[in-house]
Amino acid sequence: MKEDTKLLLDWYDAERRILPWREDPTPYHVWVSEIMLQQTRVEAVKDYYARFLATLPDVASLAAADEDTYLKLWEGLGYYSRVRNMHKAAVTIMEDYGGEIPSTAKELQKLSGIGEYTAAAIASIAFQQPVSSVDGNLLRVYARRNLYRENIKDPAAKKVAYDYYMERMPEDRPGDYNQALMDLGATVCLPNGEPECFRCPWADLCEAHRQGVELEVPVVPAKKARRVEHRNVYRVHCGDALLLSKRPDTGLLAGLYEFPNDLLGEVSGKTEGKATGKPTKKQITELSKKALDRFLADNGLTTVSVFPLPAAKHIFSHVEWHMIGYDIEVESLEHLPSEAAGVSDPERPDLFVCQLPDVDRYSIPNAFDAFKF
Ligand code: ADE
Repeated sequence: MKEDTKLLLDWYDAERRILPWREDPTPYHVWVSEIMLQQTRVEAVKDYYARFLATLPDVASLAAADEDTYLKLWEGLGYYSRVRNMHKAAVTIMEDYGGEIPSTAKELQKLSGIGEYTAAAIASIAFQQPVSSVDGNLLRVYARRNLYRENIKDPAAKKVAYDYYMERMPEDRPGDYNQALMDLGATVCLPNGEPECFRCPWADLCEAHRQGVELEVPVVPAKKARRVEHRNVYRVHCGDALLLSKRPDTGLLAGLYEFPNDLLGEVSGKTEGKATGKPTKKQITELSKKALDRFLADNGLTTVSVFPLPAAKHIFSHVEWHMIGYDIEVESLEHLPSEAAGVSDPERPDLFVCQLPDVDRYSIPNAFDAFKF
């Protein structure tokens, strides 16, 4: 074993994070954790992980679960296509792989939602296959260790980092090796601000540290600003009845439930800090009032009261919603379709009335937290 690999594994044995999926790393456990950990912090994942496994303890139960069940278990984690893909993959594993999760990175990558990184993570952690799982953490560690000054978002960076780590991969502990690098990146070789080199097993070997230029690498290109969408959100209620809608089956927050809302206008993202064509506050307020009137008229709603709710913002990966909320009490919702009755309105198939005591049955994403009762 190379000396630097030994230093890293010794450090991992002493300092590794105690994480629930590391306690019993069955292929299913590792798969669930790796999917949850895509785009989500370790701390945020822990509770979801326990809850998910309590309800869906194995591939067979996930494959047999209905959409509302698995979406509800994911509610609040975001990036819901992850769990849809997991469900699809679970069905494939039951039908085409006899219920056994495949053990090689190549085979794993054929499943929905499993890309190069996740396949390598599962193959190494659950099946001890020697493949490096190069994510942002490993790229940053690589760039500092070797003072790599090229753009780390470039595919060439991934290739050199992969080759570098593969040369040092210990035959007997590939999963620990990958996880040691993940921990090093997440807890020592930090992404924002000063890395904590005094705790790093590779400090003496690290080129950026030796030259005192840790903050100059990794080099990342300027981010494109997100598109901003201005929206009206309507919390319409009458007694215990609340108006909800179901989002389309594809695209952002596919198939989830929401308070009815309207797009007022959008501003496309230019390079950071330079968004152009921004509407003024006054313009947005006017558009918002008009849209509110149209929404009430289109849906035959007679108001008892309308109160503005505090404005709210939600940030997705590529888009920001800037929302103006209205609490709207109406005289009646009886003319609108009721979910309980299974009726749907051909004009607005997405809109339906639910009873407030039942609202927890519906997965309403965090984007609407500011407007929930
Ligand atoms: N991030 C993604 N996978 C991880 C793992 N297995 N351990 C810690 N952080 C991770």
